[in-house]
Amino acid sequence: MSETSASVIRVANVSKVYGAGEAAATALSEISLDVARGSWVAVMGPSGHGKSTLLQIMGGLDRPSCGQVYLDGIELSTLGSAQLAYTRARAIGFVFQSFNLLSHLTALENIQLALWFGGKESKEGHARAIDLLDSVGLADKAHLTPSALSGGQQQRVAVARALANDPDILLMDEPTGNLDSASEADLLALLGRLHAQGRTIVMVTHNPVVAESAQRIVRVKDGRVEEDRYNGS
Ligand SMILES: Nc1ncnc2c1ncn2[C@@H]1O[C@H](COP(=O)(O)OP(=O)(O)OP(=O)(O)O)[C@@H](O)[C@H]1O
Ligand SMILES: [Mg+2]
Repeated sequence: MSETSASVIRVANVSKVYGAGEAAATALSEISLDVARGSWVAVMGPSGHGKSTLLQIMGGLDRPSCGQVYLDGIELSTLGSAQLAYTRARAIGFVFQSFNLLSHLTALENIQLALWFGGKESKEGHARAIDLLDSVGLADKAHLTPSALSGGQQQRVAVARALANDPDILLMDEPTGNLDSASEADLLALLGRLHAQGRTIVMVTHNPVVAESAQRIVRVKDGRVEEDRYNGS
């Protein structure tokens, strides 16, 4: 069963190789990382060096080629696909680098769908979805589809969707990458509040100023941890 551990996420000697034979590309190379419960971690590093891959593997969206990932002490590969999908929907809020909003659904419906996956009835889901859009400053855009939203607005809908089921863990891939400085500051303030409430946040960012909001900065290079430091140290 689950080991009690201060680490809410544990990545142990994980490698990830995409493709096979001559086309094989190693995205992660025996990487290990423990994320303490309630901590706020920024993941930085050059383009193409494995940050998104790491985040997706942490969230059970992709499987490692070797090594283990533990969520609350439970090794993800021991879960069946339905159990894994349910755990993800309830425990983890994920913001994709490319947002991954469903293009034929409105902003509101994108969030309602996430709520439905998390087990909320559609009636309570509607009010909550509006509140979530409001929390990212987009209540007035609820009925627009992603193509009618700017990149930064789509990003904020993606953040609101990630928060839908009140997850303990937020995994965010470049959540501020498309935002102007005012929206960026608003989002960092929102993340600060979520962190203060005890959420664990792991966010990938290229922006050193954004990374400074986190308590810990992990630099990934060539699929390994190159540097791991706590803010202020
Ligand atoms: N689905 C895939 N199939 C094949 N190769 C992939 C796949 N996804 C990622 N890769 C490769 O794995 C490596 C790491 O990619 P990843 O997306 O994790 O980088 P990243 O650090 O997030 O980069 P960026 O900062 O540009 O987002 C890259 O060389 C990439 O080409
Ligand atoms: Mg990436």
